[in-house]
Amino acid sequence: MNWWPDAVIYQAYPRSFMDYNGDGIGDLRGIESRLDHIAELGAAALWMSPIHPSPLADFGYDVADYQAVDPAYGSLEDFDRLVAAAHARGLRVLMDLVPCHTSIEHPWFTEHPEYYLWADGRGDGPPNNWIATFGGPAWTRDERSGRWYLHSFYPEQPDLDWRNPAVVAAMQEVLRFWLDRGVDGFRLDALDRLLKDAQLRDDPPASAPFGLPLPAQYAQLEHLHSTNAADIPDAIAALRRAAGDALLVGEIYLPAAQVAPYVADLDAAFAFELFHSDWNAKSLRAAIEACSAVGDQNGAAKAAWVFSNHDFSRLPNRFGPENVRAAALLLLTLPGLAFIYQGDEIGQVDGPGSQRPYDRAGRDPFRHPMQWEPEPARAGFTTGDPWLAPVDAAERSVAVQRGDPRSVLSLYRELIALRPQLTGALRMLEAAEGVVAYARGNHVVAINASAQSRPLPAAGGQTVLETAPGATHGGRLRAHAGAICRTTEPIVTSAAGSGRLGHGGR
Ligand code: GLC
Ligand code: CA
Repeated sequence: MNWWPDAVIYQAYPRSFMDYNGDGIGDLRGIESRLDHIAELGAAALWMSPIHPSPLADFGYDVADYQAVDPAYGSLEDFDRLVAAAHARGLRVLMDLVPCHTSIEHPWFTEHPEYYLWADGRGDGPPNNWIATFGGPAWTRDERSGRWYLHSFYPEQPDLDWRNPAVVAAMQEVLRFWLDRGVDGFRLDALDRLLKDAQLRDDPPASAPFGLPLPAQYAQLEHLHSTNAADIPDAIAALRRAAGDALLVGEIYLPAAQVAPYVADLDAAFAFELFHSDWNAKSLRAAIEACSAVGDQNGAAKAAWVFSNHDFSRLPNRFGPENVRAAALLLLTLPGLAFIYQGDEIGQVDGPGSQRPYDRAGRDPFRHPMQWEPEPARAGFTTGDPWLAPVDAAERSVAVQRGDPRSVLSLYRELIALRPQLTGALRMLEAAEGVVAYARGNHVVAINASAQSRPLPAAGGQTVLETAPGATHGGRLRAHAGAICRTTEPIVTSAAGSGRLGHGGR
């Protein structure tokens, strides 16, 4: 039996999770010291964003050595300790593999230039019109050779050539290195950029919205040739051969309808369409249906549900603080993997970032330290000067919420504890306007995404969990609330696959 089908996986952003040695930067010993928090939450695994040596152009997503730990985070010994301590608590460990590009300071870039994608310029300019994700041309000219190298992200992140078998072999070795150290799986970064058009054809101008938010300049082109090449699944298959049966979760930043070719050799792919949905019943329902349809040839669903990460505005800022609890209920009642980004479990919000920004793409506000204690300056994260200040630790911290049965943290714990009972496939239900409802076996989940009280679809069912005391009352669901009910009546499924309860609805 695989351990993950319905696992909750906790994302720690190592720089901001817990600082052990007081230098203001989170580290591996710090993560080890807070494993009990992750285990008590009920998570099955910990995923760490990259911990490798990095010049920090992209805060660790520019890797200078895939088989080492950045001294700021600790040592390989600290890593082994952390894995052992996690496993002792029944927690699995996932790493973040960045296969698309390395840091420009990786020795490969000088020792093995043939590992990268090079082309001659067109006149004085770059080889084609491709744009880097964070803006500017996707090509930079190397002064020594006069040739141009490709970078899907920052110029400090040259793209690897996955059509070179030596690159494939080198990355397979990286996977084996960490698996030998006891790692249980990987989150695979930026898979939709892994290969691009071999002829390097220009991208056409965008003629329709992409379907997910994109940086403004990048959104001007349709990324027909610079991403999403047809042979990416072959590269993923090669990663799978090295990974054996370890868990592989892909970051594929595409609308759900385009994700299917990627998942043959993956266990799951992040459900970005739901992540970026507006908080209204119609959009949420459409996104749940689209992401649930991502499956393999055997029909196994492969969505990994997630509402925050280190790249985007946090859940309360996107969905509204009044919807934090209902969003938790939604995230944790859908079938399959669910990812929690550190701080979500206490309702952590975006911060101001740093006065002198660290990340050129503006993502500092989503990366503030975890708030352990109600101490405004350090939040129990460090004894020194935190690299980024805590946001609002006096209002929001693990220590305070732990003892409060009505806190967001307690709600997360209850929801995760209930998950084993939520068996059975997802069936969307008809519900009143503004309400998202679905069945999992004999449980009905209802979320009121509107600002008015609405009829509860599971009228007659028994409420087993609600987002706040009194959220359900007299067969109705309060504004912004959610509930899980155990049904007493059978659920009738229509031909279209939508179910309807015996009564309820409008
Ligand atoms: C992924 C990471 C992001 C990074 C990018 C390039 O999207 O989540 O943080 O900037 O890949 O590696
Ligand atoms: Ca430290």
